[in-house]
Amino acid sequence: MPREGGRSLSMGIVGVGILAWSVVSAVADVNSPEIQGPCDSQGYPGPPGPPGPMGPPGPRGFSGFPGPVGLTGIPGNTEECLPPAKPAFAVKRSDPLPAPSQPVVFKEALHNDQDHFNLTTGVFTCSVPGVYHFGFDIELFQHALKLGLMKNGTQVLEEEARAEDNYRHVSGNVILQLTAGDRVWLESEQDTAETEKGLIQSVFFGYLLY
Ligand SMILES: *[C@@H]1O[C@H](CO)[C@@H](O)[C@H](O)[C@H]1NC(C)=O
Ligand SMILES: *[C@@H]1O[C@H](CO)[C@@H](O)[C@H](O)[C@H]1NC(C)=O
Repeated sequence: MPREGGRSLSMGIVGVGILAWSVVSAVADVNSPEIQGPCDSQGYPGPPGPPGPMGPPGPRGFSGFPGPVGLTGIPGNTEECLPPAKPAFAVKRSDPLPAPSQPVVFKEALHNDQDHFNLTTGVFTCSVPGVYHFGFDIELFQHALKLGLMKNGTQVLEEEARAEDNYRHVSGNVILQLTAGDRVWLESEQDTAETEKGLIQSVFFGYLLY
């Protein structure tokens, strides 16, 4: 009986000892992983593996700061800012007016810088659209006159005068809105027989208002 009791007691002690060793061993594993059994020993490290594939591009960076203010430029040429010359003409004729239903031709140009008035045909052709002022100024002596201001073949103004034994002055003025290509001229509306008599001097002018 005592032997059996002693045996079981010794076995109990051994059991406690094994349990204690395993607890110590577990604690040692946690605290110091280097301590390992003989079967866990490692071989030499292998060669490095091939490089991995390239990663995706990173996010876009922040915008940089604005650069410094540039130098002040050279002052511009003020002469180049002048508006182009406005069309204007003034023409003169010293002969009796021609036969009716045709433009009166003026041979003498008092002003016709840009040739908007054609001295050969007696027609002003609009190349700058806008509102124009046209007028004529005629001096008669022993003469009858009937004159029309025409726009594209349509009469827009008519003046009539008769100077029997003295001088007479006739003038006409009109404001016209023109588009490019519109044509303006003066036309006699008097019989040829009447226009051949007497002295006559005429001025025809026109210019762009705006
Ligand atoms: C005037 O008109 C004629 C006949 O259409 C033309 O031959 C001539 O070139 C024109 N002149 C000008 C200055 O436009
Ligand atoms: C006047 O006649 C010209 C030339 O024939 C043409 O270009 C223009 O459009 C005409 N204008 C009007 C208002 O009919």
